[in-house]
Amino acid sequence: MDVMPGQAPPTSSAPGGASVAGMKAPDAEPLLRLRGISKHFGAVQALYEVGLDLPSGQVTALCGDNGAGKSVLTKCIAGIHEPDHGEMFWEGRPVHIRTPNDASALGIETVYQDLALADNLDIVQNMFLGRERLNRALLAEDDMERAAGDTLAGLRVTTVRSIRQPVATLSGGQRQAVAVAKAVMWNSKLVMLDEPTAALGVAQTRMVLDLIIRLKDHGLAVMVISHNLNDVFEVADRIAVLHLGRMVAQDTISAFDRQSVVDFMTTGGSSRTGRGSATEAEG
Ligand SMILES: Nc1ncnc2c1ncn2[C@@H]1O[C@H](COP(=O)(O)OP(=O)(O)OP(=O)(O)O)[C@@H](O)[C@H]1O
Ligand SMILES: [Mg+2]
Repeated sequence: MDVMPGQAPPTSSAPGGASVAGMKAPDAEPLLRLRGISKHFGAVQALYEVGLDLPSGQVTALCGDNGAGKSVLTKCIAGIHEPDHGEMFWEGRPVHIRTPNDASALGIETVYQDLALADNLDIVQNMFLGRERLNRALLAEDDMERAAGDTLAGLRVTTVRSIRQPVATLSGGQRQAVAVAKAVMWNSKLVMLDEPTAALGVAQTRMVLDLIIRLKDHGLAVMVISHNLNDVFEVADRIAVLHLGRMVAQDTISAFDRQSVVDFMTTGGSSRTGRGSATEAEG
């Protein structure tokens, strides 16, 4: 990962504070700003010149129909895919995220449904996987147990019977909670969740949504991918909509209503005016 000092990032605001191409200038420099991100796989252009701002202390919902490019965009940020073109600015400085290690070094954690945890290990072992604490060359089990327990308690995850139970015995919501707690324990600044509630029941979904709100209250930037507009309207501060690889709308939640989000997701535009007319993003 290269951090190139001394280069000012472009802002989306024109002189005089007017917005360029309908993209509103955010109040402050976002934690992560993407500009002109493109990615293709063979003949498939998965992302075209995508711009996205992820501010700290806010939940940004990334919406879009199947195949819109949400997971590819997430993987570009997570260092799994390298974009063909485009720029990323972290806390205002240009960065290149080429590997998952680059992403975690910046403080970026990604939570994937079902893929995040090792089933045969217990909660503490999962939270320290790859970063075990050593105490004179022995694993500092008590320290790790205390840190894992404190983090879960701090997030008010109270339904887990024992932090020494194997992750295979947890419910889907509890697994999500452990994956999120792991992100918090490692001082992440940005947590991305790809469909965190897709397979969950009502109570488990509630727990994960509460956790997402707590992450934002801790000052983290959160990006959530969800097809469930009830969840989106409950937790998001901002909505960004991808349509066939293009960012077609991006604004604060008050600029949208459910129908306009559906319109943007399915057609790439919305004819709705007044409340519900979101800012159409540059292509
Ligand atoms: N590794 C890959 N190789 C080739 N094509 C890919 C690859 N990953 C994604 N694509 C293509 O890129 C496009 C965007 O896929 P992506 O997985 O980002 O969609 P998505 O918005 O996450 O959809 P869903 O809601 O179904 O998860 C699709 O056309 C997909 O087929
Ligand atoms: Mg996806």
